[in-house]
Amino acid sequence: MYKINKILIGTHNKGKFKEISDLLPKKIEKISPVELGIESPAETGKTFSENSLLKAKFFYEKSNLVTLSDDSGLEVECLNNEPGIYSSRWADQYGGFDKAMTEILTKVKKVNKGTKARFVSSLTIYIDGGKTITETGKIEGKISEKKGLNGFGYDPIFIPNGYTKTFAEMEYKNKLLIDHRFIAYKKLEKKIKNYIL
Ligand code: IMP
Repeated sequence: MYKINKILIGTHNKGKFKEISDLLPKKIEKISPVELGIESPAETGKTFSENSLLKAKFFYEKSNLVTLSDDSGLEVECLNNEPGIYSSRWADQYGGFDKAMTEILTKVKKVNKGTKARFVSSLTIYIDGGKTITETGKIEGKISEKKGLNGFGYDPIFIPNGYTKTFAEMEYKNKLLIDHRFIAYKKLEKKIKNYIL
C-alpha cells in the first residue's frame, strides 16, 4: 500500500500547526503552506467539517502534497453556539483575540444563561488519488475569566469539564493530549495508520 512520508499541514495558525505536528508521527516530514507561499482559502462552508474539507482540497491542489487541515472554534451555548466557525473572524472583527475574548465574556454575562461551551475541531486528510477522510472532535467545558499565558486563541477563557485550569494555564503537553484536535486526530489515526510509513 502507498505510504505517506510527508504531509502539508494546511493552516497559517502557528498554534494549530504546532499541535498537529506534535500529534503526527515524528518520522513524517511536516510542511507549512507558509514555506510554499500558499495563502489560505476563503472559508465559505457552513460547518467545521465543510470548511476543513474545503481547506484540505485547496491546499492539496496548490501543493500536490498529502494535506491535513483543521477547521476549529469555540461554541458558547448561551450565544447560540457563536463564535463557532467564525472564531477566527471574530478576532479579526474585534481587533484581536484579547478583545474577542472580552466581547465573549461581556455577552455571556449579559445573557446570563450559564457558561457552557465547547471547542470543536474537524480534521480532514486529503490523500493522493483524491481520497478524503474527515473526523470531528469536541471537548465540553465552560467559559472562565481570562487566565493563563500558554497556548493560543481562546485558550485563556476555556476550562474543560473535570479540570480547574483554563487551557492557557495548563502545560502545553497536558492540553495537547486532551483537546478537541487530539480527539479528532485519534479518530482519524485509526483510519490512516495503514498509510503511515
Ligand atoms: P480557523 O479554523 O482557521 O477558522 O480558526 C479557528 C479559530 O478558533 C482560531 O481563531 C483559533 O485561534 C481558535 N481555536 C481553534 N482551536 C483552538 C484552541 O485549541 N485553542 C484556542 N483557540 C482555538
